[in-house]
This record gives sequence, structure tokens and C-alpha cells, in this order.
Amino acid sequence: MKEYASRLMSRLQSTEKSEKADAVYITDPYNMRYISGFAGGEGALLITQERCVLITDSRYTEAAQNESDFEVIEESRKHRREAILQEICQQQAVQHIAYEDLHLTCAAFAKLRKALPEISSWIPAGEEVNHLRRVKTAEEIALLQRAEAIGDAAFEDLRKILKTGMTELEVAAELEYFMKKHGAERLSFETIVASGPNSSMPHAVPTDRKIQRGDFLTMDFGCCYHGYCSDMTRTVAFGGLEARQTEIYETVLQAQKTALAVIRAGITGEEADRAARDIIEGAGYGECFGHSLGHSVGLYIHEDPRLAPGAEDVLEPGMAVTVEPGIYLPGYCGVRIEDLVIVTEDGCRNLTSSPKELLIFD
Ligand code: GLY
Ligand code: MN
Ligand code: MN
Repeated sequence: MKEYASRLMSRLQSTEKSEKADAVYITDPYNMRYISGFAGGEGALLITQERCVLITDSRYTEAAQNESDFEVIEESRKHRREAILQEICQQQAVQHIAYEDLHLTCAAFAKLRKALPEISSWIPAGEEVNHLRRVKTAEEIALLQRAEAIGDAAFEDLRKILKTGMTELEVAAELEYFMKKHGAERLSFETIVASGPNSSMPHAVPTDRKIQRGDFLTMDFGCCYHGYCSDMTRTVAFGGLEARQTEIYETVLQAQKTALAVIRAGITGEEADRAARDIIEGAGYGECFGHSLGHSVGLYIHEDPRLAPGAEDVLEPGMAVTVEPGIYLPGYCGVRIEDLVIVTEDGCRNLTSSPKELLIFD
């Protein structure tokens, strides 16, 4: 884990910024976990040229010592975080601290500056810390694969019991139960289950609406395994669909398959998005695909780079991205299909194995 700390320090020192950081202060729980291994989320890291310090309180001290190779210092009312930071900064003659401006609140930053008046510059780290997490290691990919397999297994269990008359809330509860049963630690985001006309809302909240014949049912769900997130969406149908619904489903499926076929290292996020968007626009539904094609996934559900209009980031082998085109017609229906894939030199490896041809239930 100290390896990530030293990579981060090198990154911060090689930037164009006028002042070079001689320490970095980390408070984002996902970055804290990535860099130090500590999963508790409450605390902070201070990394200097010579010390890697993890500050947390007594609720987490033992876990932090087990999970991290950082030097753990316990904060308390008698030994406050600001005092600990000051001691380290004085001992190490720290002058320039990089901080997570994307995460720290204005109030927390003001408090920090006041507590450490001798620091001559505070350097906003911007995307530099998150950037470390973009390309996944083999170990991270194995955890993402396991998390996605839990989602697949839960969806397989759900297919055995899915029927008209179930409410959206019941479906969400079953999916969540099945994911936990298969080893999920927690959800990676709030489960989306949307039936019939509700499916036109991409991020619908499950309701007590009962599934009826003629409905689409969109389920977007995910869990965490050793901190790593899964994310998948499947849309299924109940009873007789109208011809237009089938056409919408097939368009989304074709858009998704087309994007999967073009994703590879070297293309931009915009190019990936464009591949799917062209199919949807060509079918006359361009205005009905408001969100972007996908996002990266890791310790957090929505990471960079994105697959989106205007996304100039070039995909690299080892990036984990979702591919989730959709068509939404308010008051009528919606369809989304989402897989999680790993970018490779010459294509991508799909971590999601659930069927996506249109499944029709009674
Ligand atoms: N609802 C989370 C996602 O698919 O991005
Ligand atoms: Mn999703
Ligand atoms: Mn997603």
C-alpha cells in the first residue's frame, strides 16, 4: 500500500503546478482505502516524504492496524487530529500540502488552514489522487469480476420467481437478499426497479406498483465485494408486448452490442458513446437517450473516465467501464441494458454473463 503513496507523491511532484507538494492529506474514504488498505472510511492519511500516517479513532484503530501497513495514530478528544497533523508537519518540516479539494468541505478546509498556520501553501490536488485508481490491477479486476458474478447469480435466482403481481419493492428486496446470500457485503447503490410506465425514469425509485402484463421491468442493481462494486441492468418483459416496445428493446440491444464491439484501448470515451448513440439516433430515438453510455467502476460506483459525449479520455487496458445505453419514453416505457467490461488492448472482456435477449415472463 505504501507503493500507492509513493506513486502519488511522485505524481504530485511532477505536475506543472508552481509549488511542489511535500505532503498530501487524504480524506476521501475511497482514496483512503485505495492508498492505505484501511476500509473503515473514518479518518485521514498524511503522506510525507518519509512517513505514511493513518489517523483514525478508537472505533477503528485495531482494524486499521490489521488492514494497513501505514503508521496508525489514534485521534481522540485529548489528541485531536489537527494536533497530530501539526506534530508531523513540524517534525518533517512540511511547507506545501496537497489536499483533496474535490472532497474536503469548505468548512473542513478552513478549520485545517487555521490549525496549521505555518503551512505556506495548500495545493488543490484536483483529479491527481483519483487518477491513480483509473487503471485496475489484476487483483482489483478479480474482485470486480467476483462482485459482478454475485449480481449475475442474484439475477438467475430472481428469474425463478419473477411474475406479474409482484411489486417493484418486492423485486428489489429479492434481488438484494439474493446478492447478500451470494456474498455481497452491501449494495453499491440503491437498487432501481421500475415497471411499466415507471421504466421511462432512468433512476426510478422502486414503488408498490404491481407488475402487469405488457410491462417492461428494468432492474439496475449492484453490490460490493471486498469494497469493489458491481453494476448491471437488465430489462425484461411480461406477457404480450406491443410491436413498438419490441422495436425499442431490439434497438437498445443493438446499440449495446455495437458499443461492446468497438470498445478497446486507444479509443476515446466519446467514440464509445458515439457508437451506441448512432444506432439509437438512426432508429429515431436520439432524444430519448439523455444519459451517457457509461462510467468507470471500482471502489466507487461512478468513477472516471466516462463514456460520454465530449469525453476526451483515451481508454487504457485495465479500465473497468459500464456500457449502458437506454431509450426512455415518458408515460410509456423505458429500456436499459448494462454490462461491466474490462478494456483490453484489442477489445474488452465482459464481466457480466446474464442473458440479454428479451426474456418474457408470465
Ligand atoms: N444506477 C447506477 C448506474 O448504472 O450507473
Ligand atoms: Mn447500473
Ligand atoms: Mn452504471
